[in-house]
Amino acid sequence: MGGSSIALANGLMSSRNLGGVIYAVDTWGGSPEHEDFDFIRDDAMYGMFLRNIREASADLLIRPVRAPSVEGAKRFLDNSLDILFVDGNHSYECCLEDLEAWYSKVKPGGTILGHDYYADTKNGVYRAAQEFAAKNALAVQEPEGLRFFILKKPQ
Ligand SMILES: C[S@@+](CC[C@H](N)C(=O)[O-])C[C@H]1O[C@@H](n2cnc3c(N)ncnc32)[C@H](O)[C@@H]1O
Repeated sequence: MGGSSIALANGLMSSRNLGGVIYAVDTWGGSPEHEDFDFIRDDAMYGMFLRNIREASADLLIRPVRAPSVEGAKRFLDNSLDILFVDGNHSYECCLEDLEAWYSKVKPGGTILGHDYYADTKNGVYRAAQEFAAKNALAVQEPEGLRFFILKKPQ
């Protein structure tokens, strides 16, 4: 829990860019793939996240925003984010909704990353990213061997 935020925080620290911060927007209520886990039923996910980022000494750079993704997006100004990392509910509908809610928040020239993008199985994230990119005339980058997609917002 919090692995992605910690990785981003480590990236900020290693590039000595300590002026940046990471907003982690999550319900910490889990996704469909988590429904069988006890920590969802016990509402323990948020506590685990906070503990993990503290133990990784990343808590000073990570600002948790506990909200549904689309609601959380309304708290951010347009053109305010350098990087958007999408890794919420991986269904086609939810991933597309996330991309649509957050795209305007990314600065021109900024980067959108998405996790759990499987070009081989063409899952929900794959379909959402491809459709979103086509609609906005963006090229989808698929780094080899990684289950990520990358989009660059035009300047
Ligand atoms: C695959 S996990 C990603 C975890 C995260 N990358 C990390 O390293 O901790 C998906 C996350 O999306 C969150 N989630 C699912 N649906 C959401 C929604 N509609 N709004 C906000 N968060 C959501 C879940 O609570 C879960 O933490």
